[in-house]
Amino acid sequence: MIKKNNLKIKINYLKKIKIFKKYNEAYFNKSKPIVDDSSYDDLKKEILELEKKYPFLINKESPSTKVGFKPSKNFKKVKHLVPMLSLNNAFDREDLVNFEKKIINFLSLKKNYLLEYSAEPKIDGISASLIYKNGNFVKGLSRGDGVEGEDITLNLNTIADIPRVLKGKNIPSEIDIRGEVFIQNSDFKKLSEKFANPRNAASGSLRQKNPEKTKKIPLKFIAYTFGFSKDLNISDQLQFLELLKNWGFKVNKFNRIIKGIDNLIKNHVELEAKRKEIDFDIDGVVYKVNDFILQKRLGFVGNAPRWAIAHKFSANKSISEILKIEIQVGRTGALTPVAKIKPVNIGGVLVSNATLHNEDEIERKDIRVGDIVTVERAGDVIPRVIAVDLKKRNKNSKKFNFPKKCPSCGSTTFKEYNKITKKIDAVRRCINDGYGCEKIAIEKIKHFVSKEAFNIDGLGKKIIESFWELKLIRYPQDIFNLDFEKISGLDGWGKLSVANLKYSVDDKKNISLSKFIYSLGIRHIGQENAKLLSKTLKNANKFFDLGKNNNFEEIFNIDGIGETQINSIKDFFSNKKNLIVLNELKKILKIKDEKEISKNDILGEKTFMFTGKLVGISRAEAKSLVENNSGKIISNVSKKLDFLVTGEKPTARKINEAKNLDIKIISQSEFLKMLNIKGS
Ligand code: IVH
Repeated sequence: MIKKNNLKIKINYLKKIKIFKKYNEAYFNKSKPIVDDSSYDDLKKEILELEKKYPFLINKESPSTKVGFKPSKNFKKVKHLVPMLSLNNAFDREDLVNFEKKIINFLSLKKNYLLEYSAEPKIDGISASLIYKNGNFVKGLSRGDGVEGEDITLNLNTIADIPRVLKGKNIPSEIDIRGEVFIQNSDFKKLSEKFANPRNAASGSLRQKNPEKTKKIPLKFIAYTFGFSKDLNISDQLQFLELLKNWGFKVNKFNRIIKGIDNLIKNHVELEAKRKEIDFDIDGVVYKVNDFILQKRLGFVGNAPRWAIAHKFSANKSISEILKIEIQVGRTGALTPVAKIKPVNIGGVLVSNATLHNEDEIERKDIRVGDIVTVERAGDVIPRVIAVDLKKRNKNSKKFNFPKKCPSCGSTTFKEYNKITKKIDAVRRCINDGYGCEKIAIEKIKHFVSKEAFNIDGLGKKIIESFWELKLIRYPQDIFNLDFEKISGLDGWGKLSVANLKYSVDDKKNISLSKFIYSLGIRHIGQENAKLLSKTLKNANKFFDLGKNNNFEEIFNIDGIGETQINSIKDFFSNKKNLIVLNELKKILKIKDEKEISKNDILGEKTFMFTGKLVGISRAEAKSLVENNSGKIISNVSKKLDFLVTGEKPTARKINEAKNLDIKIISQSEFLKMLNIKGS
């Protein structure tokens, strides 16, 4: 009898789910709702109430398991098939000249070679990646940390500029179209009480848990590049932008093909003048080498392509008064002076803090409390004091005394002598480089949970500070042993947010070796160096072993890891607190071995070194060819070397050393043959 009744309930429930699905499809996929909002909400409520009463009903189509209702997470994390990288910035002619020079050198082109660029206004919005399979929009991701994005398909689906189906010819079987989601200034005016600026409005609505709310915000989309693609047969960016238009995307009408630095600057000046007339925020111009073959050869360095740069518009400036100079203590112990200024509006943003960089900068500019100063703010860069108006200085003003003791822990401070530059560093540091200094420890933990490191959702800087105050955390490992009961009793924490935090923390116990190394915040070991180390060490135990017996031989010969980095790693492992932290983390975490996924395996881990001048290819390109094909570059002739590649006029000493150690000596053309490249 009960069973029969259950069946009836289930049938009734599934009927409702079916109708709900239809509503959703009309609303999100076709952008044509077939019912008004209140009928939609009523149906959803009925379904949820049924589920509450009869939990056995819940199925995967339920609104409680779909979008926005997950107790654990807002959005599902999805790995980008090709990482979404960022761009390096250029601010003036000199930066552009250097950018072009580097490209010409890398490609070993003639000095006067005229490169062709696609110059595209840089829209100040939020980037998104749209995956199309056989011309159909199947998934949309946010940038996330560049490696892993969030599945925001439903929200992107509300944007009319995003074609659900691609039109026209030459549609690849698979492509990931990338572009900017933004809000027009005229539309932003209507929302300005809710958000500080158009970018925030776009970001807030795109990451909205409820797509119905996103739908109400008039978001726009402009396409400009692609990530992964299959069967895309084109040879330059200009052709790609043309194709985008044919497929039904909007592209920027101010995109231009330009040659020569002078012409790039002319276009930059013209666009900056037009900036006010354009109905969306642009904060510069992106230059991309037009030719895809050259782009591919140039590749990437760190997080940014060698073949593109963002030429920012000039910064906004304002005048204000220094009320106070505060000394902040950073993660590496650096004492950074920050000017607290009379709040001033600079290009639409209220600024009340401006960096004074370091002790030497204060000394050089003789900056004092009470001074009238010029403050500059360039896009997302921290505002800075650039000049002092000495005429307006009060006669009684006193020189600023930079503290010689750490304002956080009272330890002595010091300025380092740089053996390479033979200069004393401009930065003063706290001698306490570990967890003994409160401010350093807090900054270390903030770094540990930051986006590029453990990326723990819900643990922002302010929360770390308040957890510290409440003695909930002292060391990185405490993040994984939080007292959730205590947290749920704190102001502003509800059941859902505590559950979310618990989920995020547990979720991040699996981490890659390179992110783990980066997260430790070892000085001079940024993301790039952490990757180099993890590629060499391959698994976490080898990293932990560095500290045992003080044996650092494993990392002596890595191209890119020099004396400064090695000394810093040695210092790190010689600190007992660090060893305790490592030991605790080792027990809690599952650190994944490093494996190369997307690279060609032609060179199968063999090691290379070059000597002499290569013909038609730069040393930098040769190095990146080795690395992109799973080979390794090492910086000394040793038993670890497999091949010494010789160009013109090789160094006799290196050849002799290689001969003595029985190392294979090959020519440039033999090397290129190994890579299936026809050599010159
Ligand atoms: S190309 C590999 N083109 O600028 C780099 N980016 O800092 C691919 N952006 O995250 C980016 N307009 O959000 C490119 N025409 C344009 C752009 C553009 C705006 C943004 C994008 C990216 C950021 C780079």
